[in-house]
Amino acid sequence: MPAQIIDGKLIAQNLREEVTAKVARRLADGKTKPTLATVLVGSRVDSATYVSAKQKACAELGMGSVSHNLPEDISQEELEKIIKSLNADKSINGILVQLPLPAHLNEERILQLISIEKDVDGFSPLNIGRLAQKGREPLFVPCTPYGCIYLLEKSGVKIEGANAVVLGRSNIVGMPAALLLISRNATVTVCHSRTKDIAGMIRQADILIAAIGKTEFVRGDWIKPGAAVIDVGINSKPDATKKSGYRLVGDVNYDEAKETAGFITPVPGGVGPMTIAMLMNNTYRAAEIQDS
Ligand code: GUN
Repeated sequence: MPAQIIDGKLIAQNLREEVTAKVARRLADGKTKPTLATVLVGSRVDSATYVSAKQKACAELGMGSVSHNLPEDISQEELEKIIKSLNADKSINGILVQLPLPAHLNEERILQLISIEKDVDGFSPLNIGRLAQKGREPLFVPCTPYGCIYLLEKSGVKIEGANAVVLGRSNIVGMPAALLLISRNATVTVCHSRTKDIAGMIRQADILIAAIGKTEFVRGDWIKPGAAVIDVGINSKPDATKKSGYRLVGDVNYDEAKETAGFITPVPGGVGPMTIAMLMNNTYRAAEIQDS
């Protein structure tokens, strides 16, 4: 039986509507407008696209945004000064530094500087450290991995006791996704470029989160029958039938995998829309946390 398609666009839209309603209630109560500061360094086209989508979402959900578009050659000191001033600015609830930063900047020091109460991306060492420890709760969970878990939960996929494979170990997706699965009592294997038998590992997975950034890397015959497949990849693939000359595909060969999987996210329209919806929810929550 072909897989149930997990409609990330619809699930994200429902979450966005919930956040919109909560923001409207907050404003009706005379409280401040949740406001996100975005920090974009340099001129990477993909980063600029993501940041402008985040700002657009703020406006659509009734929240505020302030943008800092900074030159590629900004110094560490200058960038740190900007982060410190955003930390001190009471009109700013969330701070998002779009990654990756140019190579000359120390990303770790920048992320460490963001006040934990404004760390809506959940990348500060304190939030990640809490996520990694049993019985501790981070204030904010990174948006894309949390989006993956949210899609599984909304689709009724049982995480507790499941064998889960996370393909990729990045700080942004793979590692926090693995921590979130562990916190929900899955048994987790993290596969990466040095893993000996990736196909064999994936064949045992009830849940697969693929975040390796390789076009259609996972083949259909690697998927355990009935497994839930969450595809985080966004890769462009040449396609002469498209006006642009390419189309977006994931890290999983969707056409093959959907024949065996129990649940699968499409690309686009799966995990992608969840990232921004989660960021909006975190920004709303940041404003609530800062009220008290
Ligand atoms: N770069 C790729 N994904 C993300 C994300 O979720 N947040 C930030 N800040 N940068 C990213």
